[in-house]
Amino acid sequence: ESVEDTSKILGSMFDGIEVRGFSQEMVEDLGKYAGVPVWNGLTDEWHPTQMIADFMTLKEEFGELKGRKLVYLGDGRNNMANSLLVTSAILGVNITISTPESLFPEQHIIDMAKKYAEESGAIIDITTETTTAVKDADAIYTDVWVSMGEEDKFEERVNLLKPYQINKELTNHIEGEWILLHCLPAFHDTETVYGKDIQERFGIGQMEITDEVFRCPQARQFQQAENRMHSIKAIMAVTNGNLFIPKA
Ligand code: NVA
Repeated sequence: ESVEDTSKILGSMFDGIEVRGFSQEMVEDLGKYAGVPVWNGLTDEWHPTQMIADFMTLKEEFGELKGRKLVYLGDGRNNMANSLLVTSAILGVNITISTPESLFPEQHIIDMAKKYAEESGAIIDITTETTTAVKDADAIYTDVWVSMGEEDKFEERVNLLKPYQINKELTNHIEGEWILLHCLPAFHDTETVYGKDIQERFGIGQMEITDEVFRCPQARQFQQAENRMHSIKAIMAVTNGNLFIPKA
């Protein structure tokens, strides 16, 4: 069935649809035809609902967002890197994407972020550096090395992204207070099918983050995960509810 037809059917049955799917185009088409609000719950390009929870977590931690520095390490051209880059730029958060050159974000995403940064004053840095990049970080962030639909790329990514792992050696370079964020799921041990498989094939029991750092006092990923519920409820209420929202 075409997305247009499915959209019309779902739109007739529901007051809103959150799609956690694959292609960005599909979600946009759904929004075009459904006649009800459609929320992007995750696509191969963007992860906007995660952004609300992430920046809510940063706000809970730091109060003011402007001028804080977020460093994302890992796959620099996936949905999370794209979303963190652009959302940081909108909000005036200084953002560093630390990734191998072959995984730099696409130019049109960088351009979009730069445009927002002109207004917000955010500093954008796309770099292959790791230890110098995290030096003055307020928050460090990572995501899985292989995203949805790329499951055949494990070998290539493990080899490419090993130097971008968040581990104690790296966090030792951070000066001052910092927090750790991760959108989850995380491959920090061998308690998952992928984790076990990667250990058997490549001899590493942890991927984008070591178990030690995942469990460190600076870790906020479970607070961040809880905030997914509050932020999605807020998104739905603002979109579909009859709310009185006082000015902050
Ligand atoms: N980059 C990850 C995000 C998971 C929330 C993926 O697309 O699988």
